[in-house]
Amino acid sequence: MIPTVGLILSLLLAFVTAQSVFTPARPPSIPLAVKSPYLSTWLPAGASGTDGGYLPGHWPTFWAGQVLGWAGIVRVDNTSYVWMGNPLGFNNLTNQTSAEYTSTSSTFTMDVAGKVFLTVKFLSPVYPNDLKRQSLIFSYMDVEVVSADGNDHDIQLYTDISAEFVSGDRGDVAEWDSGNADDVVFHKIWKQTPLLFSEKNDQSEWGNWYYATDGVDGLSWATGADTDVRGSFSQDGRLSDTKDTNWRAIDDHWPVFAFSVDLGSVGTDSANALFTIGLCQDDAIQFLGKSGVVSLPSLWSDFFDEDEDALTFFHHDYDNAVSKSSKLDGKIAEDSVAAAGADYLTITSLTVRQAFGGLELVGTEKKPYLFLKEISSDGNAQTVDVMFPAHPILLYTNPQLLKLLLDPLFENQESGHYPNKWSIHDLGRSFPNATGHPEGDDEAMPLEECGNMLIMTLAYWQQSGDSQYLREHYKILDQWTQYLIDEALIPKEQLSTDDFAGALVNQTDLALKGMIGIQAMANIADITSYYADARNYTAIAASYIKEWQTLGINHIATPPHTTLNYGNNASWGLLYNLYADALLNTSLVPASVYAQQSAFYPTVAGTYGVPLDTRHAYTKTDWQLWAAAVASEDTRDLFIGCIAKWIQETPLSVPFTDIYETGDGGFGDAPHFMARPVMGGAFALLALPKEGAHAW
Ligand SMILES: *[C@@H]1O[C@H](CO)[C@@H](O)[C@H](O)[C@H]1NC(C)=O
Ligand SMILES: *[C@@H]1O[C@H](CO)[C@@H](O)[C@H](O)[C@H]1NC(C)=O
Ligand SMILES: *[C@@H]1O[C@H](CO)[C@@H](O)[C@H](O)[C@H]1NC(C)=O
Ligand SMILES: *[C@@H]1O[C@H](CO)[C@@H](O)[C@H](O)[C@H]1NC(C)=O
Ligand SMILES: *[C@@H]1O[C@H](CO)[C@@H](O)[C@H](O)[C@H]1NC(C)=O
Ligand SMILES: *[C@@H]1O[C@H](CO)[C@@H](O)[C@H](O)[C@H]1NC(C)=O
Ligand SMILES: *[C@@H]1O[C@H](CO)[C@@H](O)[C@H](O)[C@H]1NC(C)=O
Ligand SMILES: *[C@@H]1O[C@H](CO)[C@@H](O)[C@H](O)[C@H]1NC(C)=O
Repeated sequence: MIPTVGLILSLLLAFVTAQSVFTPARPPSIPLAVKSPYLSTWLPAGASGTDGGYLPGHWPTFWAGQVLGWAGIVRVDNTSYVWMGNPLGFNNLTNQTSAEYTSTSSTFTMDVAGKVFLTVKFLSPVYPNDLKRQSLIFSYMDVEVVSADGNDHDIQLYTDISAEFVSGDRGDVAEWDSGNADDVVFHKIWKQTPLLFSEKNDQSEWGNWYYATDGVDGLSWATGADTDVRGSFSQDGRLSDTKDTNWRAIDDHWPVFAFSVDLGSVGTDSANALFTIGLCQDDAIQFLGKSGVVSLPSLWSDFFDEDEDALTFFHHDYDNAVSKSSKLDGKIAEDSVAAAGADYLTITSLTVRQAFGGLELVGTEKKPYLFLKEISSDGNAQTVDVMFPAHPILLYTNPQLLKLLLDPLFENQESGHYPNKWSIHDLGRSFPNATGHPEGDDEAMPLEECGNMLIMTLAYWQQSGDSQYLREHYKILDQWTQYLIDEALIPKEQLSTDDFAGALVNQTDLALKGMIGIQAMANIADITSYYADARNYTAIAASYIKEWQTLGINHIATPPHTTLNYGNNASWGLLYNLYADALLNTSLVPASVYAQQSAFYPTVAGTYGVPLDTRHAYTKTDWQLWAAAVASEDTRDLFIGCIAKWIQETPLSVPFTDIYETGDGGFGDAPHFMARPVMGGAFALLALPKEGAHAW
């Protein structure tokens, strides 16, 4: 058929008229169900497409980009409209009118033919102070319908998930079942041949996925081929309550796991249905600790006997989840706006689910551990220089979480599983295998990681007062300090955390980190009554920082600035490690250096921020926010304004990246990082010590 002018016009019109408001911004990707490295479901939303960020007509995706079949349809007076996904054969979409994100939720509102409004709220609660709840890998979707025109309408809701959640290989065979427990009806889906501790395309290949809802009157359910199940709903307004028992490949007549809720006649009093999606894995992490390699169970399994107990507890806990989440949202909003205005909240609130979504609680109530996946850059487990940029969000929400993240690193190295005298870079090449590097052949970032461990350990003490922790680990902390004393003043050619930019000798910012690390150890020694060490290390740090100011600063430039590396006067870079001096209140670095950098950054800022250094036009979002946290108010606001503008305008459609081109906001020649927990560094400003903390 040759499209007529009228058809083209009406298509154009549909695009132009169906417009959604985005609050506080249209980010590159909107978190839907984001709770762990494996429950990580997003809606691509970048500004490059005209329709990014619209739930009806688009499939949600895994963070890495592959589609995750998650569909929503509503029947209004016998006519079906799609409110989520892009199911085959359904051409009527609801009109999305708004999308809003907070720290813990994303909410979409649709206008359905002027008859009803439908609101979908995705809530991934974050419980920094409640390990039992935080350990559950589940997320909520609440769907609410209310009359738009004042009349009563006949409403049936429909939603399903496909087996795409259970494996990263769409040719793999899934099995499934349906059941009920404690007034909750659920579908359970798993791989026919689970592969323990394995991933394909970053999806996990073991465990049971659940999709659940309340067992109310008017609920019907079915499993079967996507077009059959959705078609029968559209036809009948209900499902058959039957199971398809023909186990098959994920992409073989796409089995879907569906619910329909008949809400009956809905007027100006709203009606709703609540759904829970998530993953249960008994074993979660392999860890090389003090008793050799062990399987660590998911922490929730210490609180619940069966998957179903965990599932029904979570589902029935919704009211509590809403109240706790709105408190956390409110606190973050209030603190962010008070600290640096609304643009800052646009940034911080987009990072919360992402940062916590890179973490997983395992072990037992008596001995819990927190593990981190280096999402998207290389999949390493417990990468120290990924924890480091992320750790301000833990200091802000609950410093005990930082301890749980540091514990496995201390345990592995203190029990003799790492041969090098400096700190390990990570605990394993591929999450969830934290099986260490007994050969010492990890990616070498010796100065970087020694400094990071010392700084994070003192930061934990500072906000917890846990001196015993410093005593327990004094020996290895002191060992790493010796490395810094040898290497920090004149750093050999080596990688810093910004490894994508290559190795370099005499890196100014890396040297600074080493010196702050030495001063951190001086403070640790003082707190633990090793007074001779304290005096010695204080003197060493003081002499190093004096020399550093000659070696690492171009004093004759206008304005003066630190260099990227010693003697390279034309070079510069973000001096983000300066933040650690302020965080620890070490008073090592003179105020003049802070003032100098604040005056310099605006002179090299691009449209979307200040480049990382003179080697590339790209920048790091996390390090800019670290630099901003210790800058003058004007320079801080410049950084924050640029990043908030980038969130709104970037052509990228991936979960919040921490690296982008400052000129056009795309990736440029940068590696394609996304969804990394490092964005917890957005909380740098809020993690700075307040008077009265255990300040040094
Ligand atoms: C919907 O279909 C049912 C059954 O065919 C019919 O009884 C009802 O009147 C229809 N409702 C509307 C609003 O068209
Ligand atoms: C699409 O919606 C219109 C009314 O809004 C209805 O007349 C039409 O039948 C619907 N199409 C389908 C395929 O359901
Ligand atoms: C969506 O909006 C367009 C343009 O206003 C309108 O033509 C269409 O009927 C609306 N669809 C629904 C389902 O509301
Ligand atoms: C983790 O180790 C197991 C062997 O213990 C292996 O089968 C699995 O593929 C590894 N996982 C990853 C993500 O490399
Ligand atoms: C590193 O800096 C020191 C101090 O300025 C200098 O002596 C040394 O030559 C530099 N190393 C290299 C390889 O440039
Ligand atoms: C200070 O520390 C350095 C490095 O550990 C050591 O070589 C030196 O002997 C110490 N000096 C004193 C006075 O303890
Ligand atoms: C680099 O800057 C320093 C001042 O910080 C100056 O003493 C030195 O001569 C400069 N080097 C070159 C090669 O211009
Ligand atoms: C930082 O340390 C100084 C002493 O060196 C102290 O007076 C000040 O209160 C501390 N600041 C904070 C924010 O704790």
